[in-house]
Amino acid sequence: MICVKGSKKLTEALAAFEITSKPQSAVCTVIEIPGYYDELNRLTDNSSVIVVITGMVNLKEWKIIQKFKHANLESLPGKIESYLQTFEQQEEPDISFEFEEDTFEENTPVTHQHDTVTSINKVQDKPQHTSIFNQSFNKRGYIAASFSASGGVGKTFSSINMGGCAALVGISTVAVDLDFGFGDMDTAMGLVDPRQRDKVLDKKAVVPKNGWATVAEWRRFARDLKGSLLRHNSGLYVLPCYPYAGNEIPGTEIEDLILTLAEQFDLVVIDLGVDAFSPHARTALNLADTVFLIGGQDEKTIGKLTQFLGTENAHTKKMKLVINMVVPTGYYTPKEVAKKLGFDSYDEIPLDTQGVNAAKKNRKLAIQLNGSTAGNAVKVIASKRLPFQQLAYEEQLVGGGKKSLFSGLKSMFRRG
Ligand SMILES: Nc1ncnc2c1ncn2[C@@H]1O[C@H](COP(=O)(O)OP(=O)(O)OP(=O)(O)O)[C@@H](O)[C@H]1O
Ligand SMILES: [Mg+2]
Repeated sequence: MICVKGSKKLTEALAAFEITSKPQSAVCTVIEIPGYYDELNRLTDNSSVIVVITGMVNLKEWKIIQKFKHANLESLPGKIESYLQTFEQQEEPDISFEFEEDTFEENTPVTHQHDTVTSINKVQDKPQHTSIFNQSFNKRGYIAASFSASGGVGKTFSSINMGGCAALVGISTVAVDLDFGFGDMDTAMGLVDPRQRDKVLDKKAVVPKNGWATVAEWRRFARDLKGSLLRHNSGLYVLPCYPYAGNEIPGTEIEDLILTLAEQFDLVVIDLGVDAFSPHARTALNLADTVFLIGGQDEKTIGKLTQFLGTENAHTKKMKLVINMVVPTGYYTPKEVAKKLGFDSYDEIPLDTQGVNAAKKNRKLAIQLNGSTAGNAVKVIASKRLPFQQLAYEEQLVGGGKKSLFSGLKSMFRRG
């Protein structure tokens, strides 16, 4: 029996099969995309599915579709017959993306300029901070966290690219991975091999001689935390967290870690998971000066964010809404999303599959790629939302000048 979710044409094409409307009672489900995206989310993991793509799909849909097979409407009945017999043996399709190499910027040299405290606006005005252990900290850098109650929306992408923007203009910046369940910040930056976390892939990364600190083990390196961190070719320092290591770290320990980093760096960007109520997430959300709330255009993400925004952990005053992977065909427009979530203002990052993947292939951040629309959007957001004069180059980009923001940043960087 086949379950069909889609247009009349699709149902007619499958009229020869016994059709049901309940995926649970069918051996195979046929779903038409776009239009029935939510149905994909409702399916159980092991249900066999044929996806018929009849229009443009967004990245999220595409990622889900990759799990399944897709077919042309015309050839569908034949495909279904063979699929029903053999679906267990079939392999997932191989997807590859194209990119024009010449749109890359040259590697930006990393200097030690960012070791000195530069002109930070609000940061220097902050009072000294004392941790719960009564340890006092001499300086308090700016703390920005990326959070979303929904998975895969771009929390990691936003935090590393936002941090990369700052690092590239010489602001001493560290990115901390506090997604204990699925931490992948180091691999998302192309720094290390995801299967062998100690294997550094980025040839231009700076690697501490005696191994590098991780969130679970940061105390061991506390004496010289900055000198014990991996450094990406953008100049961004990284404190990685290996999945499932550190779940039991108490919030107080995380508070000390964040404040220690904020003492040594001008900017600390924190990548969080989807759970706002774990002790470490609570601590990070509490300490952050700005929380980038990452949203999407789909009902499911909006629902989860709405639920989160109703809790005491939401700290709505310091939250900036960033709607990521925006496509014109999204279920809601960014404006509608903001309205639904109760935000007067918002920023958006377009879906830029080519740019983001090209950056990944070259172990760069999207903001290091001239032609990346998502990277450009992050630069604008960073310049608007982070209180550093060095980032104030928004107009160059928005004004459509010949120079990209990146080249503006680079020339400034060279001027020192
Ligand atoms: N604007 C964008 N355009 C294209 N691809 C994007 C964009 N933003 C993020 N991505 C890609 O989408 C995928 C999911 O993003 P990311 O890992 O940052 O999400 P996340 O919210 O951190 O996910 P998780 O919940 O698993 O931690 C990644 O492969 C990322 O590179
Ligand atoms: Mg992530």
